[in-house]
Amino acid sequence: MTTFAFDHLPVPHVTTPLPGPLAAGLLARDTVYVSGSYTRVYPLVVEHGSGCVIVDVDGNRFLDFTAGIAVTNTGHCHPQVVAAIQDQAAKLIHMSGTDFYYRPQIELAERLARTAPGPSAKKVFFCNSGAEAVEAALKLARWHSERSRVVAFFGAFHGRTYGAMSLSGSKLVHRRGFSPLVPDVHHVNFPKACPADCKNLTPPPPFPGREGGVACLPLSLRGRGPGGGVLLIDPRH
Ligand SMILES: Cc1ncc(COP(=O)(O)O)c(C=O)c1O
Repeated sequence: MTTFAFDHLPVPHVTTPLPGPLAAGLLARDTVYVSGSYTRVYPLVVEHGSGCVIVDVDGNRFLDFTAGIAVTNTGHCHPQVVAAIQDQAAKLIHMSGTDFYYRPQIELAERLARTAPGPSAKKVFFCNSGAEAVEAALKLARWHSERSRVVAFFGAFHGRTYGAMSLSGSKLVHRRGFSPLVPDVHHVNFPKACPADCKNLTPPPPFPGREGGVACLPLSLRGRGPGGGVLLIDPRH
């Protein structure tokens, strides 16, 4: 069984006011030297992480209910993940999969392609970030469909690059002052449910309680026929 560094200690464990004195000092330096464009929401200065526990610079321990930004699926600093990173860093740190070939890239692509659901053969495109993945999805959909229009959903965040930002519909602060954005992006409400008599028609039938009658839009977007052939970006935020 995997053991983590703070398994034997009580959590949460807070011994200073928040932010603590060391965190407060770092926050002051951050204000001076780090770009003000980052949108931090509370003054947490993290130093360690292990499993579902994070420790701030003043030694306060917290339970991390959000797994970082919902990405540390194996827990913070899982020993096997740390060992794999250390092993690879000692062999080769720089890589450019767009220019050369690497065994780990091919092996991971093979595993992901075999794991992905559905009967069709899969190929993998590796990205460095969520925004880059969204950019790739946007390009892929336009290339494949030979259509330009994209539907995105209000409430969803997709990243800070131009394509991803144009798709984002969560907070005005992400987009204000950056126009013109990528054209042909249309924002609609995301439905909570389909009406019982939904026939997946195009245009979609109105749905009580949702503006614009777009409740069935996700279903109507499937396929490449009339009403289809547009990109549905995964809305999670
Ligand atoms: C749903 C979703 N898409 C895209 C992004 C952008 O990811 P990144 O910050 O890695 O570019 C985020 C980041 O929070 C996200 O939550």
